[in-house]
Amino acid sequence: PSTLQEAAGMNDGRYFGTAVPAHLLNDSANMTIVNREFNMVTAENEMKIDALQPNQGQYSFGTADRIVNWARTNGKGVRGHTLAWHSQQPQWMRNMSGQQLRRAMLDHVTTVATHYRGQIHSWDVVNEAFADGSSGARRDSNLQRTGNDWIEAAFRAARAADPNAILCYNDYNIDDWNHAKTRAVYDMVRDFKARGVPIDCVGLQAHFNSGNPVPNNYHTTIENFAALGVDVQITELDIEGSGQSQAEQYKGVTQACLAVARCTGISVWGVRDNDSWRASGTPLLFDRNGNKKQAYHGVMEAL
Ligand code: XIL
Repeated sequence: PSTLQEAAGMNDGRYFGTAVPAHLLNDSANMTIVNREFNMVTAENEMKIDALQPNQGQYSFGTADRIVNWARTNGKGVRGHTLAWHSQQPQWMRNMSGQQLRRAMLDHVTTVATHYRGQIHSWDVVNEAFADGSSGARRDSNLQRTGNDWIEAAFRAARAADPNAILCYNDYNIDDWNHAKTRAVYDMVRDFKARGVPIDCVGLQAHFNSGNPVPNNYHTTIENFAALGVDVQITELDIEGSGQSQAEQYKGVTQACLAVARCTGISVWGVRDNDSWRASGTPLLFDRNGNKKQAYHGVMEAL
């Protein structure tokens, strides 16, 4: 195999994806790499709540549709990101609370998932709902303050609107099995499965850096989530660093996913280093000129 998508596919049909921001759709150097190497696409910002519903009740699908249409035209799957989140909310939603906010959130989930029904491989239904640190608590947010059941309400609405999409809970810092946040998400997923709340997948964002390295027990974390009866997807992978050390970490993450049958795909959060949201770093698989880095070859060695 000579590309990430081809090599991933040879491992029981896994996918290899990337984030695409709308402003790079016209960058032919970038899109040539996307088309060649990847078979799953996530809109980097364009399907977030502020982008899709800038004013209450006025949906703005045009930019997101351009990304989805590019993906579908070129035979790529689409990860929908994200239906409900405390961040990147439009101002009108940030000001809301209580039952009014709950209704607005559910309206957003239903309208967006209906708009894209049948076109989305996996939805990040809820993003980043747990707190950092050792409490294992939910993150405080306007959505959380509408009641602890807001997450399951969002999942039920998403399932009703798009019954065939894989529905994911997505978060960061849930990679280390010995981390309270990881266990808290695990407990929620276990509870959802026990009570029939429609959840199909856990998304591990996987943003790593020197202060937050790839954990030695990553395989265990992935295995334990999968054992609950959900898929695991690595959804936003990037790893700060360079050279052989970065390559080995990328290889390790890829191996940890491949070791678990239900770890069905890996997406990196961008293509070239200079387009990364980590603007000053070099966390991706391609350098600023679009050349393959050692990190790329590390992934390919694992695949
Ligand atoms: C980031 C985008 O990459 C940036 O362009 C934007 O300014 C902020 O959001 N977790 C997520 C993603 O779920 O949506 C975030 O994307 C990165 C962290």
